[in-house]
Amino acid sequence: MEYQGILDHIYNTLKDVPERGEVASYIPELHKVDPARFGLHLLTLDGKEYGSGDFDIPFSIQSISKVLSLSKALDFTGPDLWKRVDVEPSGNPFNFLALLELERGIPRNPFINAGALVICDVLLSGFSDPKEDFLNYVRELADDDSIRYDETVVRSEKETGFRNAAAANLLKSFGNMENEVEDVLDFYFHQCSLYMSCRQLARTFYLFANGGKNMKGKSFISASQAKRINAIMLTCGFYDEAGEFAFEVGLPGKSGVGGGIVAVHPGNYCMATWSPGLNERGNSLLGMRALEMFTTRTGLSIF
Ligand code: DON
Repeated sequence: MEYQGILDHIYNTLKDVPERGEVASYIPELHKVDPARFGLHLLTLDGKEYGSGDFDIPFSIQSISKVLSLSKALDFTGPDLWKRVDVEPSGNPFNFLALLELERGIPRNPFINAGALVICDVLLSGFSDPKEDFLNYVRELADDDSIRYDETVVRSEKETGFRNAAAANLLKSFGNMENEVEDVLDFYFHQCSLYMSCRQLARTFYLFANGGKNMKGKSFISASQAKRINAIMLTCGFYDEAGEFAFEVGLPGKSGVGGGIVAVHPGNYCMATWSPGLNERGNSLLGMRALEMFTTRTGLSIF
């Protein structure tokens, strides 16, 4: 398939559209990003890479990181993890709190913020030097030592992360958090601040398309765990827009409020997009359109 031509066509069709959503402002540092940025990167299972636009410019991956922390947490705990967090779509925004109270401190899934905080708690208990060890884990997945946290974004989110603090305190009150609230939040904000390009993201997510093995052939999770994580991406990766993403794009994927999206076609490819403007559900507007165009043009969705 002529992938480069398809990516270029999508890029050229969308790059100047005026309707591109709103850049996130509730984390002030994210609001400084140029809304004109737009990049696409495709990595096929045979290791071939194709990019268009700003695919080598790093950005804050935010909630996309929740997939990476989940994969490491599953590696630590195995299926016991599911006693502490469920796998059902929430149908609510990522920072919605009322369900957590109703469901007695068991978050609906690992991708809403409350669920991601439980996963961070697992990692804090499992790693000896959590922030450093997690960064090294991501670097190894991607085979790229240049990946780093963005401390400016960490500080910005710490100053405004009141809902995350509320969620963490609620989890603690229900006995679903072993570590100190402050330490879990600090780890969570670092995880969300990971600073990566579309190319780096597609490489990092290669293992989910490849039965748990990264580009170097090293196994990080089992094929069955990769299958389950893809299932959770499909059902929960876009919060209250997960149905729409499955309907329009037809792939497991994960978004972040930095405007990134990664989508996975198991056994076939990973694709990452970045456009900072978000739709009203908090997902990248152009990214979703680009992925819809890609799966429609190529016929390569999972359905
Ligand atoms: O906790 C937050 O609000 C952010 N660090 C991450 C939110 C996010 O990316 C939601 N995804 N679309």
